Amino acid sequence: MARILKDYPEVSLRPEDLDGKIDFANIFGRTAPLHIEIGTGKAAFLLNQARARPDLNFLGIERARKYYRYAVDRIGRWGLENVRIIRTDAAQFLAESVPDNSVDCFHVYFPDPWPKRRHHKRRFFNPANLEQLLRCLRPTGQIKIATDHAEYFEQIQMLLSAYSAGLEKTNFLPAAGADRREWVGTNFERKYLQQNRPIYTIAVKKIR
Ligand SMILES: C[S@@+](CC[C@H](N)C(=O)[O-])C[C@H]1O[C@@H](n2cnc3c(N)ncnc32)[C@H](O)[C@@H]1O
Repeated sequence: MARILKDYPEVSLRPEDLDGKIDFANIFGRTAPLHIEIGTGKAAFLLNQARARPDLNFLGIERARKYYRYAVDRIGRWGLENVRIIRTDAAQFLAESVPDNSVDCFHVYFPDPWPKRRHHKRRFFNPANLEQLLRCLRPTGQIKIATDHAEYFEQIQMLLSAYSAGLEKTNFLPAAGADRREWVGTNFERKYLQQNRPIYTIAVKKIR
């Protein structure tokens, strides 16, 4: 029988309530380093990482209603106070709602690869979105990316290297909330590890 998903309004940010750039200290009720995950899916990474790192604030962004509702139910049931989630398009949200120099780390794990050439323009990683990620990051803040898709990974690497004046490569450390053998512990990573698919990771740091 399908589980009934509960709503926990206290864990959600509602796009319709936002007006300009967000004051994250107000949203979380404290000042702490902010990590944002783009495309949480069912939020396995977000939940385990938030539990493993209570010293950090986590915000998940998920566009799909089905995954968002599932994630809200899990965050609420786990009783985590350092996680919020919003159902919206990440590109629009970053541009409209996230202040300059406010984010310590962006996590983008298994972004939709849109494998058909005519759909490549739908991919999240493009120059405009990378500009937004850079604007929102604090100096020394990181962008961490994982994918199983070799061609998209290559495109992402090329895009990042075009910003070498503002970004440098850094070690991709496995997530504190991930299991042994995992990089990040998302649902997609778990599925692909079972299928022995290669997983590509990269982490970059904002230099100024
Ligand atoms: C392939 S799934 C990966 C989910 C999760 N990160 C994982 O590794 O299990 C990609 C997720 O990103 C979400 N997504 C794609 N584009 C998005 C966007 N522009 N804003 C917010 N979420 C997005 C999709 O709805 C989907 O849940």
